[in-house]
Amino acid sequence: MFGKRGKDDGTKGTPEFRPSTPAVSETVAEAPRTPAAEAPKPSAESPSTPRADAAPAPAPAAPARRTVEAPPIAAEPKRLQRERSESYYDTKSQVFSALIDTIDLSQLAKLDPDSAREEIRDIVNDIIAIKNFAMTISEQEELLEDICNDVLGYGPLEPLLARDDIADIMVNGSKNVYIEVNGKVEQTGIRFRDNQQLLNICQRIVSQVGRRVDESSPICDARLPDGSRVNVIAPPLAIDGTALTIRKFKKDKLTLDQLVKFGAISPQGAEVLKIIGRVRCNIVISGGTGSGKTTLLNCLTNYIDREERVITCEDSAELQLQQPHVVRLETRPANLEGEGEVTMRDLVKNCLRMRPERIIVGEVRGPEVFDLLQAMNTGHDGSMGTIHSNSPRECLNRIESMIAMGGYTLPQKTVREIVVGSVDIIIQAARLRDGSRRITHITEVIGMEGDVIITQDLVLYNIKGEDASGKLMGEHVSTGIGRPHFWDRARYYGEEQRLAAALEAMEKRAD
Ligand SMILES: Nc1ncnc2c1ncn2[C@@H]1O[C@H](COP(=O)(O)OP(=O)(O)OP(=O)(O)O)[C@@H](O)[C@H]1O
Ligand SMILES: [Mg+2]
Repeated sequence: MFGKRGKDDGTKGTPEFRPSTPAVSETVAEAPRTPAAEAPKPSAESPSTPRADAAPAPAPAAPARRTVEAPPIAAEPKRLQRERSESYYDTKSQVFSALIDTIDLSQLAKLDPDSAREEIRDIVNDIIAIKNFAMTISEQEELLEDICNDVLGYGPLEPLLARDDIADIMVNGSKNVYIEVNGKVEQTGIRFRDNQQLLNICQRIVSQVGRRVDESSPICDARLPDGSRVNVIAPPLAIDGTALTIRKFKKDKLTLDQLVKFGAISPQGAEVLKIIGRVRCNIVISGGTGSGKTTLLNCLTNYIDREERVITCEDSAELQLQQPHVVRLETRPANLEGEGEVTMRDLVKNCLRMRPERIIVGEVRGPEVFDLLQAMNTGHDGSMGTIHSNSPRECLNRIESMIAMGGYTLPQKTVREIVVGSVDIIIQAARLRDGSRRITHITEVIGMEGDVIITQDLVLYNIKGEDASGKLMGEHVSTGIGRPHFWDRARYYGEEQRLAAALEAMEKRAD
């Protein structure tokens, strides 16, 4: 009964659990116009807000890599790093050339990593002694480490990969390396010897997943052994040298409680999210690049019952579901001959033949949205996905355009009815201009008024100002909807009291 959602007419579920839709005249198109709803403009909508597009993805250390607590490089003043770099890189380049002349790389490749490191260290120490380079012991140590990283690992990227506090690493050609730490993008003093070294390292990364990056095949997605998501785009497409972007994989994914601690959502807002996840609402998480969509999706999956059979579809497996009954699927790009591609759409379609109870799509980017909506509408309640968009309303528009991308020529009203019949909740994530990540809307999709989709906001983030350090201050408020549209569904799962209490507490706080 509860597994079945709509009928063919695309309207929302069965009467017994779909509470009578609030009379359209009583509801509000888009956000209810409470003062709270007006005030909290999600950052992504604000023109003055820096878009998160600048923040690509990071990657954590490979299994063999050590984890460094606080990289000395980042701790130093930036200018100092740069000044030292010039002579340092000059020396390093000379030592490196001498090493390459001396060493037999094919023999080195046969050694285990520790022995190879020892071998390189011995030879580099000899070279430094013979060539009489003047350097302190700590400089010599740093040089040794750097050269080992160049020959055996990811070169200058190694210290960044070893750090756990970095979300994204962005390499724009050999001389500019940026990182995102605590939501802020900053330049590092790290650089590559030249474009060739950068391209070689990219090549090393992508060859691990059987791919190639060069002039003839200049765009490539890959993954580091630890799961970090990597994108490479090489010249001639990248005009100023190879651009490498890494979204570092966090082994210990953030939990909803941690998001509460960071202020991304209030404790009561988190309670509402837990209930939404548990009672099998169909959820779309909307947000800009790097706004925390995947993290939030991962958090919500914690509230799925352990008995449920869940199938996840991702471009690059990032989700870490804790349930025992999970099947993880990943798309595949075409091989060098242009064959063998498996798209997200193929995966979602195939899912439907795998008896899923919930389908989770890491990122919905194209026509697979139609298949996901169909799944949501036909007995796979509690399915979830993320979409790149800057507000719940824009998210609905994006869904419509993605359906159109699939070549369907359905009347607009029918498409909207399908959307309304499928999506229950849109959760909006945003990275605000101070670098903080917040959930700015929890919005219900409740029905149609004529041709227009009606939504109502349950929770909004209300920005109140900023403190002396430029940190934005605000709070999550309930918009005063006593009985959300999914109330009967919550009651069916025995969660209505908890839901009412959480919403009421948020209202009180707002007073
Ligand atoms: N509320 C938060 N507070 C602090 N850091 C967060 C928060 N949410 C996510 N992050 C961190 O931000 C980074 C980006 O998060 P995530 O991968 O979830 O973003 P995304 O929106 O899915 O990005 P993309 O659009 O690239 O897929 C990750 O390193 C994650 O750990
Ligand atoms: Mg993501």
